[in-house]
Amino acid sequence: MTEQDFILLPYPNILEEGNFSWESPSNIALVKYWGKKKDQIPENPSISFTLNECKTITTLTFTKKESNKDFSFEVYLDGNKKDDFKPKIQTFFERIESYLPFLRDYHFKIETKNTFPHSSGIASSASGMSALALCLVELEKQNVYRFFNFQAIENIDLNFFNQKASFLARLGSGSACRSIEGDLIVWGKTDSIEGSTDLFGVKYPYKVHQNFKNYQDTILLVDKGEKQVSSTVGHNLMHNHPYAQNRFQQAHNNLEKLKPILESGDLNAFIKLVESEALTLHAMMMTSMPYFILMKPNTLEIINKIWRFRQDSGLHISFTLDAGANVHVLYPENEATQILEFIKSELVAYCQNGHYICDQIGFGAKKID
Ligand code: DP6
Repeated sequence: MTEQDFILLPYPNILEEGNFSWESPSNIALVKYWGKKKDQIPENPSISFTLNECKTITTLTFTKKESNKDFSFEVYLDGNKKDDFKPKIQTFFERIESYLPFLRDYHFKIETKNTFPHSSGIASSASGMSALALCLVELEKQNVYRFFNFQAIENIDLNFFNQKASFLARLGSGSACRSIEGDLIVWGKTDSIEGSTDLFGVKYPYKVHQNFKNYQDTILLVDKGEKQVSSTVGHNLMHNHPYAQNRFQQAHNNLEKLKPILESGDLNAFIKLVESEALTLHAMMMTSMPYFILMKPNTLEIINKIWRFRQDSGLHISFTLDAGANVHVLYPENEATQILEFIKSELVAYCQNGHYICDQIGFGAKKID
């Protein structure tokens, strides 16, 4: 597939008005995306677990307008107008315009809400951008279906729909392209994963051991404040970063190493690889110029407690981090009772206001009728 394949033959915008709702989950990377080129092309491949509970629900209401000069849209979060979200959506519209020719023909009302608390430090860009991309592809699909008199159109099958949604979501926020489907999604071209591409997320195509089914992710909310450095700024600091090339190569190598681990269910090897990825991500931040630290003292307290508990109990508890202070505690479903007990008694004390979220692997976005 190339970018051009996402531009359909011309079709008229038949729908005058209406609305669509989609819910789309967040995801947590095991091998991290950190560093990007022009047009949201990742510097290295990544793989993530799609989450189940942490999601964004977006309703897109569209009305045809007279002039197609400018983009016209309003944004609401939990019923409140959010003008500060507009610049990001304006940039998104500019990036995706050539793939959705109708964008200037409609006025859009974008109403969105998250299942996780706002400003919990959980990235809502992955779920938010993917939910919006899905609503927009849905509008294209409906226009095209109507134009062709409801007959099935060869290239608007489910596969194409998901690929296009992921492709567009990527242009909103890189990691958002991994939120359309589940349960393990690869984004970024790498030789060891057949079908992988820089353009959109694809389902991990190989065998996955039972140990990794329903894997649990308890998210410890260490710091709910605004991050001092956004992911976008962090990605850009990988340009001219002294360790960048080694890091990008390491991500390819780690994806290759993960294959036999996922197939055999080797939890200890999985833990080593995933924790090393998390710490490498933060090491890249600390060795950027300017350098920065997103972990907080309690992030480190939690990591140390996890290591000690793992040593003492022999259970397969591990952690990963995204670009923030929160800790994602990962563990297999069959160890959930003991590990959750440990989390509640030992780790929750390090969370801001004792807040944490119990999540697990999910299977992707859903249309809401
Ligand atoms: C650390 O997808 O938020 O979570 O493409 O600039 O929107 P933009 O960045 P974003 O970066 C996420 C980085 C990460 C790792 C990952 O999810 O792979």
